[in-house]
Amino acid sequence: MVNYKDLGLVNSRELFKKAFEGGYAIPAFNFNNMEQMQAIVSACVETKSPVILQVSSGARNYANQTLLRYMAQGAVEYAKELGYEIPIVLHLDHGDSFELCKNCIDMGFSSVMIDGSHLPYEENVALTKQVVDYAHKFDVTVEGELGILAGVEDDVVAEHSTYTEPDEVVDFVERTGVDSLAISIGTSHGAFKFTPAQCTRNEDGKLVPPPLRFDILEEIERRIPGFPIVLHGSSSVPQEYVETINKYGGQLSDSIGIPEEQLRKAATSAVCKINIDSDGRLAMTAAVREVFANSPEEFDPRKYLGPAREELKKLYMHKTKNVLGSAGKA
Ligand code: G3H
Ligand code: 13P
Ligand code: ZN
Repeated sequence: MVNYKDLGLVNSRELFKKAFEGGYAIPAFNFNNMEQMQAIVSACVETKSPVILQVSSGARNYANQTLLRYMAQGAVEYAKELGYEIPIVLHLDHGDSFELCKNCIDMGFSSVMIDGSHLPYEENVALTKQVVDYAHKFDVTVEGELGILAGVEDDVVAEHSTYTEPDEVVDFVERTGVDSLAISIGTSHGAFKFTPAQCTRNEDGKLVPPPLRFDILEEIERRIPGFPIVLHGSSSVPQEYVETINKYGGQLSDSIGIPEEQLRKAATSAVCKINIDSDGRLAMTAAVREVFANSPEEFDPRKYLGPAREELKKLYMHKTKNVLGSAGKA
């Protein structure tokens, strides 16, 4: 058993309280390897932003659970070495069973998500409560989910989204004891969130996706005032990365994300945590493809992973400063 407090990590409770009061959101960036972790930490130290280091079960399988945990522990020391101590949460993304959540809690995670959103309502309540009861013994915070996002969540693929039903949130939050709630209001996972047919064109000919359902968010805020809300699937899919990828041999077509203004607006509401993974994947891929195309003689991984890390850092700094508003809040 390892307690996260001994690793220098924090849970999300205090961070969400401040984010709610301050009208900003805490970034939850996914990581699977050292370069991503370095980029996240250095960007958040430089912009003085609190951060949630997010680990999916796919990441645990890819990088090894023990290594990831030591990397998060290393992230705390790395931040100090960079000269500014920021609050760092180590969070399990889309936990799908009690055993997985327990395992993460036992090895030093400070926060877990139990994603029972695909289950029938009563089963979601029971599973989420089981995780909360265990997690709270160790002061670990728990995120639950109501409503289904379209796209890929590890092994679960949902073709259609189901918006969160405001009528369910009070009952869910009260009966489970969760610390935050992920909701579905029109975001989805991955880099292909909307088809061009779902979008309209603005005067510059740019595709504009349908707006998020702020009406549902507002109704949820009314039902559970002051309660921290989480938005998954919040990548914006920067078109400059898509263009670079395609220019250098990639084949991404119709990649459309959530406009940053919409996320900025959400961050000023009860949304206290915003999840971003795909944008980082695009930034890294664009940078690596550019090096491969322009310097085909390079074969030292540092020569392409280094630029990828730099691009990621730039992206994360932009997110904390201009989108989530968490810069300067650590
Ligand atoms: O919500 C899913 C995250 O982007 C994690 O993706 O399961 O491929 O690691 P992953
Ligand atoms: P994106 O695919 O939009 O980056 O969403 C990531 C996410 O929700 C991780 O849980
Ligand atoms: Zn997610």
